Amino acid sequence: MPCPFLGSFNQAFVRNYGSSLMKQYGNYCPMISRAFRTLGQDETKCPFIQQNSIISEAPKEMSEDIVEPVNSFKYEKFFNDQISAKKKDYSYRIFRKVSRLAADGVYPQALEGQENRRVTVWCANDYLGASRHPVVQDAAIAAIKSYGTGAGGTRNIAGNSQMTEKLEGEIAKLHNKPAALIFSSCFVANDATLSTLAKILPDCIVYSDAGNHASMIQGIRNSRAPKHIFRHNDPNHLRELLSKSPAGVPKLVVFETVHSMSGAICPLEEMCNIAHQYGALTFVDEVHAVGLYGKSGAGIGEERGVQHLIDIVSGTLGKAYGNVGGYIAGSTLLIDTIRSLAPGFIFTTALPPPVLAGSLAAIRLLASEEGRNLRSKHQAIVRYFKLSLLVAGLPQLPSVSHIVPVPIKGADKVALVAESLMKRGHYVQAINYPTVARGDERLRFAPGPYHTPEMVDSLVTALIESFHENNINFDQFMVNGACRECSMEYKADIMQDELLKFPMQVA
Ligand SMILES: Cc1ncc(COP(=O)(O)O)c(C=O)c1O
Repeated sequence: MPCPFLGSFNQAFVRNYGSSLMKQYGNYCPMISRAFRTLGQDETKCPFIQQNSIISEAPKEMSEDIVEPVNSFKYEKFFNDQISAKKKDYSYRIFRKVSRLAADGVYPQALEGQENRRVTVWCANDYLGASRHPVVQDAAIAAIKSYGTGAGGTRNIAGNSQMTEKLEGEIAKLHNKPAALIFSSCFVANDATLSTLAKILPDCIVYSDAGNHASMIQGIRNSRAPKHIFRHNDPNHLRELLSKSPAGVPKLVVFETVHSMSGAICPLEEMCNIAHQYGALTFVDEVHAVGLYGKSGAGIGEERGVQHLIDIVSGTLGKAYGNVGGYIAGSTLLIDTIRSLAPGFIFTTALPPPVLAGSLAAIRLLASEEGRNLRSKHQAIVRYFKLSLLVAGLPQLPSVSHIVPVPIKGADKVALVAESLMKRGHYVQAINYPTVARGDERLRFAPGPYHTPEMVDSLVTALIESFHENNINFDQFMVNGACRECSMEYKADIMQDELLKFPMQVA
């Protein structure tokens, strides 16, 4: 007896779609549903299965529908193991809830945790407070009112406004280059530019500084070009490697000016000259320098008068410029090439109007006299903080920039000290692997022009207490304001005087 239900379909249909039919309607058929339950035992009783032997002849996907998956990968267990390993070596990250306040008189404080406790923030990369400057805020608000919050598309499809090109023009002018290109972040700018460039340049070889940021490492890796790593900020090692390179092939030399985690500044001119001597292009990340160094805030290249030695400069709009986004600047043809070929640029929504307007205002602000004032005050408070650490006998890594790293070995120890500081009203993030190598853990301080000497004094006291609280020894070589060894007195007021030269209320 043929199955009255399946018999209403033609044979080919049943053969092709039998799996879905069985799944959808099988339960309604007393014979088939029983056949499923007792598969292999009494299929002979179903006249349909008996005559058409559809189960044994069914396409592969049909039997997959029926058979329980065996030996499937234990995804959740795998994720759990990954997380457990991170927790075990103290590199598991728990993000702090900190809402940085923007208003006059409360910046650079934040509301912390569930209780919204007030703390002073010492680790923000909004180095000069541009994110809360009224000129920047007003520009962003006005742009929202006129153009809305979102770009509405990629640069190619509805996302390229007059303001987008204006910002690129301003960035090009800042860096003394013919052209610039903006990206959704500088991570993306570095990754997209380096991966594209090193891939399309025939037989390109990359020379990468050992201290390079993850964004550049990622870009170089993604290009699959052969690479050589030179010792951090070591021009001699760079020369040694380049001298062995084949002549005539394209090469890229890639490094940062201000190192994000140590605050070291590279020998820019020397490294660029060596690169050019061997026919390489220089790709220089000025992320922690833009807005902060040079007469108009263009970075170390401007400060040292060597912008022309940088072939491709990359920067961020998310740190000293107080917004979000990244960029590169270089020759017109190079920029056009990246614009035309880099997937990380092409296939993503463009930066939104408030960010474009805010960034434009911030770049202009920091290029002005007010920007220069902010930079002077910034450097003064950084010097005061470094000296205060020195006087307290607290450790600090040698840094010639605004980034002040205090080394505390061990991910557990550094986290405990950060916690002790938080209890005392000071927020600084513990830095551990993979941001720095294991054993190089640190607290990374970034004092800004709105931090007062009193805030620094309170922080240093809290640091001393936190070191003691966690049984971390440090060499307290200053006793009662004088050197333990030579009795020379430390005059903190000299630094205070220097700071007072720069009014706290910037015009
Ligand atoms: C040296 C360096 N380059 C690039 C980036 C990425 O910049 P962005 O935050 O705009 O993605 C960072 C971020 O911290 C950085 O430190």
